[in-house]
Amino acid sequence: YPLKEPETLSWSFAGPFGHWDVGQLQRGLKVYKEVCSACHGMRLVAFRNLEALGYNEAQVKAFAGEYTVQDGPNGDGEMFDRPGIPSDYFPSPFPNHEAAAAANNGAAPPDFSLLAKARAVERGFPTFLFDLFSQYQEGGPNYIHALLTGYGQEPSPQVESLIQEGTYYNPYFISGPALAMPPPLSDDQVEYPDGAPQTVDQYARDVAAFMMWAAEPHLAERKATGFVVMIFLVVFAGLLFVVKRRVWAGTP
Ligand code: HEM
Repeated sequence: YPLKEPETLSWSFAGPFGHWDVGQLQRGLKVYKEVCSACHGMRLVAFRNLEALGYNEAQVKAFAGEYTVQDGPNGDGEMFDRPGIPSDYFPSPFPNHEAAAAANNGAAPPDFSLLAKARAVERGFPTFLFDLFSQYQEGGPNYIHALLTGYGQEPSPQVESLIQEGTYYNPYFISGPALAMPPPLSDDQVEYPDGAPQTVDQYARDVAAFMMWAAEPHLAERKATGFVVMIFLVVFAGLLFVVKRRVWAGTP
């Protein structure tokens, strides 16, 4: 079946001056919370991490309190439910992998924590062999955006015969012609308080950027530090050159 290449989008976090667009991350969090979290967990991200998205302690506390998390065992050896607190992690919507798969036609929705990094790959043999050398940072978000906006296309008759019942055709899906996730987004589904367009395309961009932040929260610091390190190395190389000429001056 023909695989479509995801469109290369321009992301604020791309390139050596990459930085987060905090407004975009906040919108992505809203899309995750109101839509994706019905099926997808994010078990490596704690509520307290949301302070990096510009929320203060009180806001994070209130946000965490809207979730119910399982705690325990208590004195009687029983598990119990309680409202979330900032040190809790995003709870998974299903108790375990089997339950997740059973509720979704046999395919468990993957956890979001590292998905944006995990999907920064090329598809098919032999290209995937060169991923190690060709990895480009934004491959994951480009893919997620393409996947979310790639539903509703007409498969060719040959491809159609390969599609299993209960799955949805998507030419961008990395491991088959169709996947078990129904199209999750539609226009005007999530309300944006900042006036950004309420379209599937914008939702997909925002949630993909948010997933990139979830998978690599220190990306912006890493790039800023790397840039300073590069400047330091250039200056240091110049100094070494001058020192070398001094030390060896007069040597025949
Ligand atoms: C898989 C994103 C909402 C059910 C996936 C994948 C991504 C994704 C990136 C991985 C595809 C791959 O393996 O390459 C999203 C986003 C959502 C969302 C951003 C919200 C906007 C939902 C909802 C459901 C769902 C609401 C349940 C009704 C699934 C399932 C899979 C999946 C079952 C596994 C598909 C398979 O392997 O066949 N999703 N999802 N997703 N998602 Fe979602």
